[in-house]
Parts: sequence; C-alpha cells; structure tokens
Amino acid sequence: MAAIAMVWVLLAATMPGPLIARAETSAGIATLNIDTSKPLHSVSPMLYGLMTEEINYSYDGGLYAEMVRNRTFLGRENAAPAHWFVVQEGNANAAIKVDSTQGPSEAVRTSMLIDVAKADPENMAGALNEGYWGMAVRPNTTYKGSFYAKGDAAGMGPVTVTLVNNNSGKAVAKATTAEPTTEWKRYEFTLAVGNLATSAANHLTLAVGHTGKIWLSLVSLFPPTYHDRANGNRIDIMEKLAAMHSKFLRFPGGNYLEGDEIHQRFDWKRTLGDLVDRPGHPSPWRYESTDGMGLVEFMEWAEDLNIQPVLAVYAGYSLKGSRIAPGPALAPFVDDAMEELEFVMGDAAGTTWGAVRAKLGHPKPFPLQYVEIGNEDQFDRSGSYEGRYAQFYKAIKKKYPQLQVIATTAVKRTKPDVLDDHYYRRATEFFADVKHYDAADRNGPKIFVGEWATREGAPTTNFQAALGDAAWMTGMERNSDVIVMACYAPLFVNVNPGGMQWESNLIGYDAVWSFGSPSYYAQAMFAEYLGTVVPTSSITGSVSERFFYSVTSDPTKGKIYLKLVNASSADQPLNINLAEPVHIASDAALVTLSAADPMATNSIADRERIVPIKTKLHGVAANFSHRLPPYTIQMMELDAK
Ligand code: AHR
Repeated sequence: MAAIAMVWVLLAATMPGPLIARAETSAGIATLNIDTSKPLHSVSPMLYGLMTEEINYSYDGGLYAEMVRNRTFLGRENAAPAHWFVVQEGNANAAIKVDSTQGPSEAVRTSMLIDVAKADPENMAGALNEGYWGMAVRPNTTYKGSFYAKGDAAGMGPVTVTLVNNNSGKAVAKATTAEPTTEWKRYEFTLAVGNLATSAANHLTLAVGHTGKIWLSLVSLFPPTYHDRANGNRIDIMEKLAAMHSKFLRFPGGNYLEGDEIHQRFDWKRTLGDLVDRPGHPSPWRYESTDGMGLVEFMEWAEDLNIQPVLAVYAGYSLKGSRIAPGPALAPFVDDAMEELEFVMGDAAGTTWGAVRAKLGHPKPFPLQYVEIGNEDQFDRSGSYEGRYAQFYKAIKKKYPQLQVIATTAVKRTKPDVLDDHYYRRATEFFADVKHYDAADRNGPKIFVGEWATREGAPTTNFQAALGDAAWMTGMERNSDVIVMACYAPLFVNVNPGGMQWESNLIGYDAVWSFGSPSYYAQAMFAEYLGTVVPTSSITGSVSERFFYSVTSDPTKGKIYLKLVNASSADQPLNINLAEPVHIASDAALVTLSAADPMATNSIADRERIVPIKTKLHGVAANFSHRLPPYTIQMMELDAK
C-alpha cells in the first residue's frame, strides 16, 4: 500500500492535462445533474469484495508462501519426482525416486527415496527442488524450513540444507540438521540470507555425506509471511489485496469447490490441522493442491484483511456431471456443511466443531453472514439444484436463521435470499449492458455478482478491460440496493510459462514480484471512494455512448464521490451541476487512471505502467465544467459540507 501511495504522489507532479475546472458552465455540452437532497437508496456496505479459488497457481505458487514445489512427492511412482532433481557433488553417486510405500503419516503416504551409492562430506549426494519457477531470495531475510526424514540405518550423518543461486551455483544460505533415525521424524532448520540482491533464480538442496538410503517427505520452506503467520501468505500480494478496500472474501470457489468428481471437491475436513495431516487433492485446474491453504487459512486470510468470509459449501454437484440426488443421499453432504458452519461460527466451549477450531488455535468464532450453496449449478441440467438448494436452505435456516443463503442459479420452490450471477465478457458487451440491473425486481432475491470480469488481455487484463470493468461498476453502484456484493474473478495468476489456466486476471506475479493490472487499479479506486447513499442524478444533453458515470455520497462525511468513465477516443466535456443548497469546497481530490492506448497494460517487467494518479481539481463549485480525456477512468471526491 505504501508503495502504491508513493507512486501516486510521485506521478502527481507529472500528470498531464488541465486539472483546473472552469467556474463557468459551458453551453451546448451535456450536464450531469446531482441532487444529494434526494437520496434514492443506500449503497450496500459489502459491495466490493474478493473471489478466490485454486486456479492459475493462486495459492501453491502464489499467495500461499510455501517455496518448495511438490513437497510431498506426488505422482511419478518409482521415477524421479516432478520438480526435484538428483544432486551428486564431485564423484558422489545417488538416485532419487518417488516411494509411495513410505510416508510420515496416514495422510501423507508418499516420500522421495534418495539411494546414495557413494558420498562423503566433501562430495555430498541428495536432491534439489526448483521451486515454483524459482525461489525468491531477498536480502537480509531468514527463511524457516522443515522436513520429515528417516534412514534405512543409523549413521547417514546430518542433512545439509542449502539455498543455492542457480546462476553462480553458490550457496546463499546453509543449515545442518540432526542425523535422521530409522523412524519418521520432523526436522527444522533456518536459512539466513545476507545482504544479497533480490532474485528468483535459486533452488533448495538437501544432501547427505554418507552412503545408504534416506526418505524425505513434506519438505517445506517459508519466507517471512504477512502478519507473521506460520504457514502464511506472501507479504507483497497481501499488501495488494489490503489496498483494494474490499469488504469480503468469497471462497473456496468456483470450480475448485466442486472438483471434477465428487471425491475431488474441496473437502474441508481434509484441509485442517498440521500439514502432515493434509493429503492434498487434485484441483480441476489440472494440478495438485497441497491444501496448505485450508479452511482455517482462508478464514485467517479474511481476518488479516479485516473483511468478512463468504463461505461456499459443496452442494452435491461436481464439474464432470456427477451429482447427489436430493433426499437421503444428500443428507450426509448437508450434515457436512452444517458441521463446517459450526466449525466456522460455533462456540469453542459448547459445540463439537467449535472446539476443534479452538484446538487448532482459533478459539474465537469467525464472523459469517453469507453462505453459498454450490457453484454455477445451472450446469446441472438435471434440474436437481431445486431440491439440493432447498435441502441445504432448510437445514441452515433452522439452525442459523440469521445467515443469508446464496443460490448459484434461479430456483422456484424456495425464494433464495441472494442469487449469484456471473459475467465474463468483452468490454463492448459491458458497455452495452451497464443498465442490466436498472429494472431488476426489487422484491426478488438480492444479487451477488459473484464472478465477473472483462476478459481482454492475458495473463492480466489491459486498459480496455479496465474501461469495461469501470463501466460495469458504475451500473453496479447505481443498483447497489439490489446488488449486495460483487467480486471480480479470477483474482490471481502466476505469469510464468504454464502458470495460467484462465486468461485475464487481476493480479499477476512470479516468485519475487507482483503487480496489479489496470483492472486491479480500477477496482481499488471504485472500492476506496464509495459513499453510503446513491443520490438522484441525471444527464441532460448528449454524451458519448462510451461515457458512464456513478454518483454516491456519504452525508456523514460530507463527501460526494463521482466516478466518470470515458471509454471513447475523444474528450468528453461535461457540466457538473449540484443542486442547491450544497456548499462545495473549491478544491476536490481527483484520481485518474488512463492510458493513451487501450491495449496498454502492466506486466511483470513493467509493473506500474498504468497506475492511478492523484491530483487536485481547483475551481469546483455548485456548477462547474470538466473535460474527461479519452480512455480515462476518473474519481472526483467533492467536499459538500
Ligand atoms: O473464474 C474461473 C471459473 O469461472 C470459476 O471457477 C467458475 O465458477 C467459472 O466458470
């Protein structure tokens, strides 16, 4: 956040174009009329949030700060494990392979066997892990690691763990652990990096200086994390999320909730506790999830951002079409969801699952207002969602009448509290449909726009997408009486080759750096400057078809927030007319996000090409004129005391 703010301040000095409003209104141009004395409705206090799931290496290789890839040695039975390579220093000789007959726990049943035929302390043998497209090493930083190990006999000597620079081949930090015994045991180490340049070109080696057999599993290495949490999140990415001014976090999906098959769903009980008790599972996005980001970690992620969790529970339908019929067959899944809710909200002393949560280190119940039943159940063509939703709804409402129960598609027999609508579109489609909710039934369910994005640009979106997003957000703000929440998807992408399964994402990163797309900055602007009320407003005269606006006000703070979007290639002149008796301060804060070329974007190599620029607008009055440059998203914060 500090870095982002600094960019705003630094760039303010170089901001192009006139920022002085003319005190006189211009005849012949359109007028935006605003009357704050006539409020239309309140703005939903939870309007903007985050949506997340394991896709595009969002957690493993993303937010979840684990640096070791394939830490439990899955797949490739009897062959060298993926992302691991044998280490044979000097004339050492060894072979590595996955061994699924040996593992440290019931849940983690796999390991890597290092069979050392020849080694000594000067010529060590072992294995290296390449990380998620490298391992981030930052100067003067301490990394904490651990692994499980056992040997076939005593006398293998200690395990030497080294962070090695890929280019120089030199150790950047080294540690030695105790000698493994013939029983599985956990070993910890720390690696202290000195004053070196930041780099992703590093790997981790574990090696011994003796012949024999050694098995390793759950090899883990963490950098410092956000709020210093063990098993925590990357600091840079969490800071970007904190700067978004979001109000909630929707998880764990998305398709990731459902899984390709029923047994591959997000099975929350298997994501709890010590990492050695988490087996992990295949994600529908074609890679294994470690489940290091488990239910508790999702909750703590929301807690760290001081936002509400919006929990989706598995509802008996998986992506490849398997489903559980409503009725007795579905009952165990409803029970499971009820236990999940108790785990989240239950009292530590008086409930079974609340006590489990307390034992796992979180005695205080988490806040929860919304629970979602499934994901995109319109794809279940059998129509079973009617019955499935009703069964979940009934059970949840009986025990937790205060919870708002979200349906993922329209149902007729039960009136859902909230309906989740998803939109993935091009910018022109959003431009054409900004009035989508203007005529929505105000007596129907509330709306959760639980996934939406302008899909232009990859891996992250370009400025044209940000214009589409901003236009769509003006419509959501105008209809924020019926739209209670909205969240963009997907949130994350690892930009390395092979990292992306879905084009057009909000935040990109590699092992070291992260950056916000233009869409990210548009979102952050819209969420930061949001009033509590939508006042009456109208346009008289003609404006470009690619001009969009939203007005919200906060009477308590005496603020009017004006969002203006010009998605055309020409200036948009505008008179702004505030109905009396508003007294407007002559200086207003102005935040501008613009690009000369709508195809322009941010990237890992050019992370802050398009960022909001904060300036001041002078000469503001009850009537003033303004000129909105081409391809521009602007926010005016007017002081109306
Ligand atoms: O956001 C990507 C995917 O799009 C989600 O997993 C799914 O819900 C939707 O179809």
